[in-house]
Amino acid sequence: MQIEFEGKTLTLPVIKGSEGEVGIDISQLRAKTGAITLDPGFGNTGACQSAITFIDGERGILRYRGYPIDQLAAESTFLEVAWLLIKGELPTESQLEHFSDTVTHHTMVHQDFTRLFEAFPKDAHPMPVCAAAVGALATFYQEPETEQSIQEAVIRLIAKMPTIAAYSYKHSIGQPFMYPKNALEYSSNFLNMMFANPCEEYVVNPVLARAVDLLLILHADHEQNCSTSTVRVVGSSRANLFASIAAGISALWGPLHGGANQQVIEMLDRIEQEGGDVQKFVDRAKDKKDNSRLMGFGHRVYKNYDPRAAILRESCTQVLNTLGVSSRQLEIAMKLEKIALEDEYFISHKLYPNVDFYSGIIYRALGVPVNMFTVMFTLGRLPGWIAQWIEMRNDPDTRIARPRQIYTGATERSYAPIEQRSSS
Ligand code: CMC
Repeated sequence: MQIEFEGKTLTLPVIKGSEGEVGIDISQLRAKTGAITLDPGFGNTGACQSAITFIDGERGILRYRGYPIDQLAAESTFLEVAWLLIKGELPTESQLEHFSDTVTHHTMVHQDFTRLFEAFPKDAHPMPVCAAAVGALATFYQEPETEQSIQEAVIRLIAKMPTIAAYSYKHSIGQPFMYPKNALEYSSNFLNMMFANPCEEYVVNPVLARAVDLLLILHADHEQNCSTSTVRVVGSSRANLFASIAAGISALWGPLHGGANQQVIEMLDRIEQEGGDVQKFVDRAKDKKDNSRLMGFGHRVYKNYDPRAAILRESCTQVLNTLGVSSRQLEIAMKLEKIALEDEYFISHKLYPNVDFYSGIIYRALGVPVNMFTVMFTLGRLPGWIAQWIEMRNDPDTRIARPRQIYTGATERSYAPIEQRSSS
């Protein structure tokens, strides 16, 4: 492709992806023209070539390594999906068995590590606690970086994340930490560490364990979103895997990203408390003078129904039916979805429910407290972050991430001594 800028003509290579996506390679733009591109929020900017996840937001398609999300949701397990994302292929039976076994035998954290949690206030939000704890893992595993030590870090992260998440919760409610149980599968083990206590037996309900596994699968990767890009950017400086993932957790915490699932349930609660007037909330979300948005609606990439939300909508009803509980939040959510999907504003803005719209209702039915919702997202997204970090490290085109800017501040001026400055 050719562009003309201030009398200079420049030929820019066009890169085509395996699904026909087209990118214009502008890496020579500044060197050849002196100009940069400006793209706040990076909506038009590809930062890498990636073979991990494919999304077609217009058609509501999500695939991990080529496999449609609905097939993985129906057939697979979280650990199998984790392997798929990280290694690129589905595991054989013996590979999966070995992987599950290795993960199971790394779930315990160092006893000294447990003291870290005591330093946090009781009411600490578990997301920054998890970010701090994952960052702190780097102090327990300080081996020089080799292929082998990276592989060990991958196993340690996948194995210890549920333990860290459950400990951050146990600390917040003042209960003793529950050690991992090696006889349990990944999601059952997490539920046991969350809800068991030393005084009585806790039997994991397999329906709940499967619901957790499904939620983790649906969150496992989503190409270059805010937290994944953060992991890649931090890792591009050659920061280690633990430090990069800790940064990703912080990025995920924000209410416009992973924090939205907490915001959705709080919004549904508010609608209920204020008498269930769904239309009022829809009108407020449309009002440009009002800051509120319909949380769980809209997506930078999906301009169609988020395929993950479609799967969760069904799972929500199944879980609630199995547990025999009714949910006022689900009733309100369905009413809200119906009104919004028929509303001209939401139709013209292509705003559809996203993955966070229904996940919170399931978390609540499972007994997961609201401030742990985003931690659940973290557990799910972990293999995606890891796969993207490894891909970034192995990509010969990776350079330290260092965007440019268009400077709009003061032009050069002379320093004035303090007594000569006016207070204006
Ligand atoms: N409610 C009402 N209006 C909305 C909403 C919403 N939830 N989302 C976007 N809009 C409007 C927005 O006001 C703007 O309108 P206009 O063009 O008239 O000014 C237009 O739609 C485009 O919005 P944007 O903020 O430029 O879109 P974006 O791509 O930058 O933001 C988003 C995407 C997800 C941050 C946004 O849709 C949002 O804030 N949604 C609510 C938060 C949420 O549910 N986040 C979870 C995302 S899914 C999980 C994840 O992957 O993190």
